Formats: sequence, structure tokens, C-alpha cells
Amino acid sequence: EKGGYETFMLKEIYEQPAAIKETIVDRLSDGIALSELGLTAEEARRLRRVVIVGCGTSYHAGLVGRYAIERWARVPVEMEIASEFRYRDPVLDAADLVLAITQSGETADTLAAMRLARERGARVIAVTNVMGSQATREADGVLYTRAGLEIGVAATKTFVAQVAVMLLLGLWLGEARGTLSSTERDRLITELRALPDAVRETIERVREPVRAIAEHWQSAGFFLYLGRHIGLPVCLEGALKLKEISYVPTDAYAAGEMKHGPIALLDERTPVVCVACDSPVLEKVLSNIAEVRARGAHVVAVATEGRKEVAEHAEEVIYVPRTDWMLQPIPAIVPLQLLAYEIARLRGLNVDQPRNLAKTVTVE
Ligand code: F6R
Repeated sequence: EKGGYETFMLKEIYEQPAAIKETIVDRLSDGIALSELGLTAEEARRLRRVVIVGCGTSYHAGLVGRYAIERWARVPVEMEIASEFRYRDPVLDAADLVLAITQSGETADTLAAMRLARERGARVIAVTNVMGSQATREADGVLYTRAGLEIGVAATKTFVAQVAVMLLLGLWLGEARGTLSSTERDRLITELRALPDAVRETIERVREPVRAIAEHWQSAGFFLYLGRHIGLPVCLEGALKLKEISYVPTDAYAAGEMKHGPIALLDERTPVVCVACDSPVLEKVLSNIAEVRARGAHVVAVATEGRKEVAEHAEEVIYVPRTDWMLQPIPAIVPLQLLAYEIARLRGLNVDQPRNLAKTVTVE
């Protein structure tokens, strides 16, 4: 059932183009169709706030969604870890839209957050990969990711599908609220449609360079991940993958926060993974890379193809295909998934079933 792949995780990494395609295609037949949301354009216009809740990888997908929704739909978005949110006595009312992101649809803390939000009058949408899961029964509306069953404990294809659906939702809200021009929307839709091919190309292209980097750094005792803006959730997710399946300590930080503490960790033995894809903050990321290098640490950068100047700053650059910069997290996560994968394999670990972890977390 692994279809010739050595592990489910690798198979699922290769299934990412299909996961994205299934998630977006029939919602893009004529503009953006998300009728399953059960939200009218008028209701979208009246929204005062969006609150996104989730755990782990789903939380990271939500972080990408926050940038997309705020940028395109101009509505404030708050991000919440479900286990914190549920015990915080949050302020919520009927003008709030709560998006609960949960691949399995069964995560106890996320379900509790949904119940609380509904009790307080908010409208709750479940973003899930599993039909008929508990989250679908606790929600006012459901937005499915269509990644197919994921067996590897570390989420991969469900993450890119969650990001894709959040991007779609951002575009839909932008259209409904009149904050995104139709030319801009159409341009972004074209870019979205090209994502499955871009991810396929990314996997092919980065496999070898990532393997070489993994071989070189397989014994490192610590990895730091740095990024800004939309690159930050990519770092958080990449760092989580590495710690989950290789048991290597990692930290992921907003690059601008580095000098407020984590810079003290750096020495000649520290690999630092920087997401340095094209964005309005690329220059800032490049100066952070220079600061890291000045402390003797080693930089592995993920950059947009053609961006030669990143190679002048970093020791190793992994190039990913160009897309709109807001969509860049999808190709950019691929080399970081593969880096975690290769390091775990070199260390002889069971990537499909890492120690202490379960695919579904039904207890808090
Ligand atoms: C990480 C991972 C976990 C889940 C988290 C939430 O690879 O799989 O962090 O993302 O347990 O699970 P769901 O999305 O099912 O609520």
C-alpha cells in the first residue's frame, strides 16, 4: 500500500500535488465557489473579526491563512492555539467567524474550542480532511481539504491542502467584501492553479540537494529556523517536522527577534535554516542571514529560483519555483519536509510512527 515508496511519509510528500489539486479544482470552476461555507457575501461584509484555532501543524496552516485573509479581505484575524483559547475565557460574539482547523476532525482541544465559540454566539467553520468527523458535527459550516487519507503521523499533504484552502478562503472573502480587485483575484487564481505543478517540480528539483545537506548535517545537535512574514509559519512547520521525526532539538523564530535572545545560541556548529523566498521583506531576511554568518553559524536558505543574491549570503541555497509571494509557503515547505525526512532516515528512525506521538489526539 506504500505504492513503491519506502515509507508512507515519503509517499504522502509525493502526493502533495494531487492533494492541492483535489482541494482547489472544483472550487475554481467559475470564480471561487465556497458555498459549503454557508456564508453569504453580505455576512462576509459584516464580519468584524476572524479567529483561527488549531493545534500543531494545523495551527501553522492557520498562520498562513491569517496573512492571506488580512491582506486580501482586510478583516482582523486572531490566531489561537486551541488548548490555550479554550481556557482563556475569550471574548467572542456573533460578529466573529471562528475557523477551526483540524486534519482529523477529532482533536479534543480544537473540538472544545469550537463548542465554546458556538456557545458564545460566534459562527464556527470546521476546516478538516475527514468527512463525518466530530468537527463536522460541531460546526455551522465545513470546508474540506481533500488530501486523501494520511497515514504518516507527521502531517505533510494535509498541511499543504490546509494552506491551499485558507488561500482560497482569503480570496473568497476578499471578493465578497470588495477588498480585492477582480484583476488581482484572477491573477492569484491563475497562480493557485499552477501550484500542483510547482510542487511536483519542487520535489524533483530539491530531492538531491536536500539529501546532500542532510548528510552533511545529520549529526547536528540543534537547528535554528528563521523567517519573516509568510516565511515564519514555514519555519515553524519545518522545525516541528524535524523535531517530531528526527528528535533533533529545533527552534523557529521570527528573524527580527533573533537579536533579542536566540542569537546567543549560535556558534560554528549551528545550522540555521532561513526561508528567504521573494517577498517585500526579503532584504530584511538577507541582513538577518548576514548577522547569522557573522557569528560563524551555517546558513541553509530556501529561496525563489533566479534569486542569485541569496547565494552570496548563504552557504547553501535550495531553490524553489516562483509563484506569487503570498503562495510561496506551499513550495517552500517541501524542502523542509524532505530535510526532516532525510535526517530521520539517516538516523535510522521510524518516520511513519515517531515515538510518543499519535495521529489523532483525542485527549487534551
Ligand atoms: C504534526 C502533526 C500534529 C497535528 C496536530 C493537530 O505533524 O501532525 O501537530 O497537526 O496534532 O491535529 P489535527 O489537525 O488532526 O487537529
